[in-house]
Amino acid sequence: MLPSVNWILGLGLLSANVARSVELSEHAQALFDQSMSFQDQIYDPEASYLRYFYYPLAAGPHETRSTVWYSIGLLQRNHGDDVKEAVKILENVIGDQEKNSSVQWYGDYTVYPEQPTVGSAAYAPDIYNSWDPNWRGFIGTALIIIYEEFGNLLPTKVQNLILESLHNNTVGDTYRVGGVDGDNLYPAYSNAWLMRTVASSWTGLKLNDSNMTTSGDKWAQDFLDLFDLNNTLSEFNGPTYAGVSLYALTIAAKYLSSTESVIGQNAQRVIQDIWDYESLLWNPNMRNFAGPWDRSYGYDMNKYVAIMSEWIWALIGKEHVWHYSSPIGTMTHADDFELAPVIAVLSEFHKSLLPKTVISRLKSFVGEHTYTGHTFAPPADYEPRNITTWVSANLTIGTDSFNQSVVGGYSEDSTSFSPSVVQWIRPGGSIGYFNLHPSETALKADVAPYALNLTYPLGNETSSFTFVLASNPLGSKRDITGFEDVDGLKIDVVGGTVDPVPEISFCGLVGGTCSIVHNFEFWNLTFSMPANSSDVPSIQFKFTLE
Ligand SMILES: *[C@@H]1O[C@H](CO)[C@@H](O)[C@H](O)[C@H]1NC(C)=O
Ligand SMILES: *[C@@H]1O[C@H](CO)[C@@H](O)[C@H](O)[C@H]1NC(C)=O
Ligand SMILES: *[C@@H]1O[C@H](CO)[C@@H](O)[C@H](O)[C@H]1NC(C)=O
Ligand SMILES: *[C@@H]1O[C@H](CO)[C@@H](O)[C@H](O)[C@H]1NC(C)=O
Ligand SMILES: *[C@@H]1O[C@H](CO)[C@@H](O)[C@H](O)[C@H]1NC(C)=O
Ligand SMILES: *[C@@H]1O[C@H](CO)[C@@H](O)[C@H](O)[C@H]1NC(C)=O
Ligand SMILES: *[C@@H]1O[C@H](CO)[C@@H](O)[C@H](O)[C@H]1NC(C)=O
Ligand SMILES: *[C@@H]1O[C@H](CO)[C@@H](O)[C@H](O)[C@H]1NC(C)=O
Ligand SMILES: *[C@@H]1O[C@H](CO)[C@@H](O)[C@H](O)[C@H]1NC(C)=O
Ligand SMILES: *[C@@H]1O[C@H](CO)[C@@H](O)[C@H](O)[C@H]1NC(C)=O
Ligand SMILES: *[C@@H]1O[C@H](CO)[C@@H](O)[C@H](O)[C@H]1NC(C)=O
Ligand SMILES: *[C@@H]1O[C@H](CO)[C@@H](O)[C@H](O)[C@H]1NC(C)=O
Repeated sequence: MLPSVNWILGLGLLSANVARSVELSEHAQALFDQSMSFQDQIYDPEASYLRYFYYPLAAGPHETRSTVWYSIGLLQRNHGDDVKEAVKILENVIGDQEKNSSVQWYGDYTVYPEQPTVGSAAYAPDIYNSWDPNWRGFIGTALIIIYEEFGNLLPTKVQNLILESLHNNTVGDTYRVGGVDGDNLYPAYSNAWLMRTVASSWTGLKLNDSNMTTSGDKWAQDFLDLFDLNNTLSEFNGPTYAGVSLYALTIAAKYLSSTESVIGQNAQRVIQDIWDYESLLWNPNMRNFAGPWDRSYGYDMNKYVAIMSEWIWALIGKEHVWHYSSPIGTMTHADDFELAPVIAVLSEFHKSLLPKTVISRLKSFVGEHTYTGHTFAPPADYEPRNITTWVSANLTIGTDSFNQSVVGGYSEDSTSFSPSVVQWIRPGGSIGYFNLHPSETALKADVAPYALNLTYPLGNETSSFTFVLASNPLGSKRDITGFEDVDGLKIDVVGGTVDPVPEISFCGLVGGTCSIVHNFEFWNLTFSMPANSSDVPSIQFKFTLE
């Protein structure tokens, strides 16, 4: 005869099972529930994978990394078949982990389970495309959370499979060397570097492998050597990737702080330092980090899913990050909402590390202030960048001065490197933006309240300053023919060596003369130098809120 539920409860057996879930705050639970109810809809139990939810939407295939994140959600929820599904997911994903230790992607996981074999005749190894070296870091750190928080829910066989997977993952990750074989993993690639460091340190301790702990400690020190220059991430103020760095550091703080591991010893302090400056850059009125941004996936955080927004939601509530009622699936980069259950599971511990000042700065605007700091991301940076950000209630101006070896910052991408960002609140409450689209390897930027001066020290007569200007909100002018048409902000060119009249074009979703950026359409305002000018290119602005 089967024992009754009451009998089990009486012995505390069932409650022990339930108690294995991590305690979530009301905010974290809301984040968790919204993400899980979305993911439940795209989970395919026959495949034991989530469907591939990414832009452009794929016709049919499933996706690996998000499925592992979802499995954390399943284990946390632990209703019905949740644990059974999580077990199938883990066996499948680890089953397809690369097993040939001679290939560069050894220990890595598939991008999607239907993909052809990487390295086969039809499917050449193409780093960050046909295989993604960061998937070791993302999936490896997720496996650590699963082992630590939910290991007891899993059969011993699956627990051991996780350790074996992490072993190969960690060995494969040692193959990554910045500048070799197309890889760009230097210590300045903060989020990816930290995930590798944490995975190697944890796995080395768990498996008693001193090669791994030694590597983890060395990588931690390499990270700290950069971080401690001014207590900033080299991958500075990225609304997506600062969130990933905090994720990796939280794992170190939670599971490694009582060990000798260098990252475990330092994680809490680094988390606090990151939030110290991020909370000064956060404008709660705008629900945006003021610029400058390294590697951003858009120009207004209200309109795309950034991982930092998920952290802030878990800490203080959704209304502080997204006040639109539109479903999250209508935002760009919505696939990053698949990480939300993982953020939720870590968030209460994470919050316990933060001083009260950080939480209060996130909640309500602390008053006009200027942040100044530095960050250094070699080999792209020849010298540290100087950050100056003026933050006021309804207008922010944030810049960095840089001297780099490439155009577009560390990731050589002008669509995501935003070294000069102006944001303001428009009538009706939406956010306007006027951001430099970088085209040079060096910039001098000077900021004062309501003022911005930009100079290209290495530029010449062929240089131009291109700005990405937000379309006006619905109900305001649809056409921009000059600064007088911009909603909510008076922009004046008050000096500089450029022709003060810009060429204006539209980079639209279905028309115009140039391409959208990260699914944001915008007006392109380009200022050129007068023909045959021998001046150093510069432009000076004054801004007035209307
Ligand atoms: C492993 O990869 C190496 C290098 O590509 C290749 O020569 C070897 O045949 C592979 N081994 C197996 C078992 O596939
Ligand atoms: C780990 O790699 C070894 C080869 O080095 C392979 O035999 C084994 O199957 C791999 N384990 C997993 C879980 O992929
Ligand atoms: C870990 O390795 C060290 C050095 O090889 C050894 O002395 C120690 O007994 C090992 N500990 C465990 C738990 O295996
Ligand atoms: C540690 O690294 C050395 C040198 O590469 C190697 O000989 C040894 O087998 C490694 N130890 C483990 C446990 O992998
Ligand atoms: C960063 O550097 C600036 C200028 O050197 C200094 O004033 C400031 O105290 C530094 N901040 C931190 C957190 O180290
Ligand atoms: C900012 O805008 C709000 C209305 O959106 C207004 O009440 C407030 O006075 C403005 N603050 C400043 C400093 O301009
Ligand atoms: C940053 O500021 C320092 C001190 O003013 C200056 O020497 C350095 O050239 C600046 N760096 C850049 C990239 O502008
Ligand atoms: C940028 O750095 C390079 C290499 O250190 C140096 O030669 C050059 O003078 C710097 N340029 C500017 C504009 O500071
Ligand atoms: C910008 O340049 C003008 C003209 O040189 C100068 O008067 C102003 O102070 C500068 N503003 C900033 C913020 O450096
Ligand atoms: C201006 O700079 C560009 C880019 O560095 C260079 O290709 C071009 O030759 C320069 N033109 C003049 C006239 O110096
Ligand atoms: C902006 O417009 C200019 C022409 O005025 C064009 O050369 C440039 O490629 C455009 N840039 C972007 C990012 O759309
Ligand atoms: C620029 O210089 C070229 C060659 O020196 C000359 O042909 C041209 O007329 C000049 N253009 C202007 C606008 O002065």
